[in-house]
Amino acid sequence: MRVILVGLGALGQGFLDHLAARADELRDRYGLRVKVVAALDTSGAVVQPSGVDPGVLLRAKRSPGGLSNLQPGFRPGRRALEIIHTVEADAVVEVTPTNILDGEPAMSHIRGSLKAKRHVVTANKGPIVLAMSYLAALAEEQGVLLRFSGTVGGGTPMLDLARLGLRGDQVVEIAGILNGTTNYILTRMGEGLEFDAALKEAQKLGYAEANPKYDVEGTDAAIKLTILSNWVMGAKLHVTDVATRGIESITRADVERARAQGKVIKLLARYDGKRARVEPELIPASDSLNVPGPLNAVTYTTEDLGSVTLIGKGAGGRETSSALVRDLIDIHLLTK
Ligand code: HSE
Repeated sequence: MRVILVGLGALGQGFLDHLAARADELRDRYGLRVKVVAALDTSGAVVQPSGVDPGVLLRAKRSPGGLSNLQPGFRPGRRALEIIHTVEADAVVEVTPTNILDGEPAMSHIRGSLKAKRHVVTANKGPIVLAMSYLAALAEEQGVLLRFSGTVGGGTPMLDLARLGLRGDQVVEIAGILNGTTNYILTRMGEGLEFDAALKEAQKLGYAEANPKYDVEGTDAAIKLTILSNWVMGAKLHVTDVATRGIESITRADVERARAQGKVIKLLARYDGKRARVEPELIPASDSLNVPGPLNAVTYTTEDLGSVTLIGKGAGGRETSSALVRDLIDIHLLTK
């Protein structure tokens, strides 16, 4: 499969690491050979129709001079859309930074890729929360596939569990911890840290958004709840439909008081088919959604199965890159 990789930040690099480490396994188990025919960052593009070795690409990206080390394939200043339209490829992996205001530049990259009949894999929440149904319809019209399992739960397959594992059943309620940063902050506050110090740690560990207000004020969780509800339950939510309150006013004293009652404070996201909300809640310490650190968790309540809970790492480049690879395998198996 010929792939154009748009974005070489933590996630793009995690994807390349994953490819470098698992090339043999992908080939032997799934018959998937990923050939990176172009890769882009803000400095320009590297184009190599025979495929750039992921390890070589990573070493160049991480050394002084970046992509310009890769001659003669380096094309300074080239933009993604031009490459998407001119380089022969089967799929585009879009991992530029998330912009939830208008989804750009990822929105244009994804739309352009689908129009050029390229499959798309992304972990970019912006375009998916703003225009999931438009982009899904466009993909269908163009006869290609759009996959975005890394947008919710990082590498933890929350969307895939609902899409594949619960087929034939009906999800009637979603409840979850969908933001790793706030869960980490609340956990560390329970261990005696002040809010600001805990947030700084979460930023250092690479969990937080570029603007951590999106985490702390509940917006990131509201975005993920919107994506989940729309995808899993066929809701037609916009992120502004989610009644959202963050954790900015929670104090250590609140966390202590909860503990004294055998409870914990968690930033919970819920949708029951009518109301969507994200807010701090007091839950029993024994609740299955009481997960520590940067973990995420989701409970689907279904008509037949009852409740099923999935817990896993919800943030981080390496973890989320596994969702990108999973999506590529899915596309390969469906189209070979
Ligand atoms: N900032 C997000 C989080 C990253 O903390 O969950 C993953 O979407």
